[in-house]
Amino acid sequence: MNPNQYITGLHHLTVSVGWAQEDIDFVTQVMGMRMIKQTVLFDGAASIYHLYYSNADAEVGSVYTTFPFKKAGVYGKKGSGQIEVSGFSVHSDSLDFWAKHLNKHGVKNTGIVERFGQKCIHFEDPSGIGIGVFGFDNDHRNAWQTDQISKDNGIRGIAGAVLSCREIEMMDIYLREVMGFTKVGQDGDYHRYHIKDGGPSRVIELHHTPDLPQGSWTFGVGLPHHIAFATGNDEESRQLKAYIEGVGYTDVTEIKDRNYFHSIYTRTPAGVLFEFATSDIGFAVDEPFDQLGHQLLLPPFFEDRRAEIVAPLEPIQVPTYLSK
Ligand SMILES: [Fe+2]
Repeated sequence: MNPNQYITGLHHLTVSVGWAQEDIDFVTQVMGMRMIKQTVLFDGAASIYHLYYSNADAEVGSVYTTFPFKKAGVYGKKGSGQIEVSGFSVHSDSLDFWAKHLNKHGVKNTGIVERFGQKCIHFEDPSGIGIGVFGFDNDHRNAWQTDQISKDNGIRGIAGAVLSCREIEMMDIYLREVMGFTKVGQDGDYHRYHIKDGGPSRVIELHHTPDLPQGSWTFGVGLPHHIAFATGNDEESRQLKAYIEGVGYTDVTEIKDRNYFHSIYTRTPAGVLFEFATSDIGFAVDEPFDQLGHQLLLPPFFEDRRAEIVAPLEPIQVPTYLSK
């Protein structure tokens, strides 16, 4: 089996951030993404929001999700073995706009830099999460439009992810020989891998950081949590689980019901958590497409505990949208 046959690209990127409203304001106004879902973290006992953002079409491969942990007061340590940059795709011609836009909002950024011949800008969200916009010429996905970001300049979806890695060798073997991705080159301390053709949402970079101590794997303010790859359905997840365990990476979870997709999770040699999420359900399963993200929704298995779950959550204000 070659998982690269089953994986169409990245499905979503997930991080833990600070305050919920601060996150909503940053992602919808500074990053210009569409808020498509308010729900809660399904695991553990604490009530924590789970907020979903995407491009205009709320499609797999464009989704960024956050767990605001500031109210719960949970912190951890940034370091290696984590997602260093959650990467989003914009048109190559829009990087100048993004540099100005980030500066206008007082967001410290790297300015336009180039890696593997591709232009990108790195910056951080208010909680310290590493984010990047990466220029592509061939991403025809539909960006969300805001009063500050035109459809041409907007985020089209996920570009890829940069993973910080103390030791490259085992992770290199994992990405190439276990996952079936293709190594396409090295640029300084960065090693680049392509899923299929390496287009938007199909890029993984390892940043070799041998002197950076291991970061926390837990949830906590400003800590990235996992990257999710897109697969088809539960049958493919079962085959992936059997395959990954069969080649010796034994820690793969059972299939979990995430309401909008089904997922399995596995810890990689670098420490970064990989998820494989199905593409067969979607976000309009429990509210109309044009109303996505406007109200707090719980999965059917939490509805009988709604009052107890909602009470500790901080009040949030949903952004007023322009048009699609
Ligand atoms: Fe996930």
